[in-house]
Amino acid sequence: MTSWRAAVTEGLEGRVVEIGFGSGLNLEHYPAAVDVVLAVEPAAVARRLAVRRIASSRVPVEHVGLDGQSIPLADASIDGALSTFTLCTIPDVHQALAELRRVVRPGGRFHFLEHGLAPDPAVVAWQRQLEPLQRRLADGCHLTRDIPALIADAGFVIERVEQRYAKGPRPWSWFSVGVAVNL
Ligand SMILES: C[S@@+](CC[C@H](N)C(=O)[O-])C[C@H]1O[C@@H](n2cnc3c(N)ncnc32)[C@H](O)[C@@H]1O
Repeated sequence: MTSWRAAVTEGLEGRVVEIGFGSGLNLEHYPAAVDVVLAVEPAAVARRLAVRRIASSRVPVEHVGLDGQSIPLADASIDGALSTFTLCTIPDVHQALAELRRVVRPGGRFHFLEHGLAPDPAVVAWQRQLEPLQRRLADGCHLTRDIPALIADAGFVIERVEQRYAKGPRPWSWFSVGVAVNL
């Protein structure tokens, strides 16, 4: 995942909110232009696992919230946002994207790296079949969300997106990596 994480964090700057911060796997990839990462993460286990990475991180991290659907930050107060493998899991993804649009300043950018709805009907059939089990076993993770479409529907303008299969079984490995602008 290293090259994917390096690609998605490229160009971030200033104050960045990261939803689904998890155990901090993106930290080592943040560019020097990032001043602070404002982490939103509900899982206590993940927050504990992040402690060592945060301690050795160049960029300071503040945990600011527990839920991407309700981000406790002021309107237009953030320069950029990051989500990696989190939009699949948040129950109300539309609400989370609306929150990101609210807190990111006009002209700020949302960087995303997510798995989702594949382009091949045979893979989609598997995704639909596997999704109920996946949701039960993997913390509510959906396989059939069309991530770029959801981001565009929320009002972001997609600046660039690359989509392709990563390594691994296809129902889980159709990745979208890109940047969307909050205009
Ligand atoms: C598959 S993990 C990805 C973690 C990390 N972003 C990464 O790339 O390794 C999904 C993360 O989303 C978090 N999450 C679940 N529901 C959430 C919510 N409502 N708001 C923000 N994060 C949430 C989970 O706790 C978990 O850390």
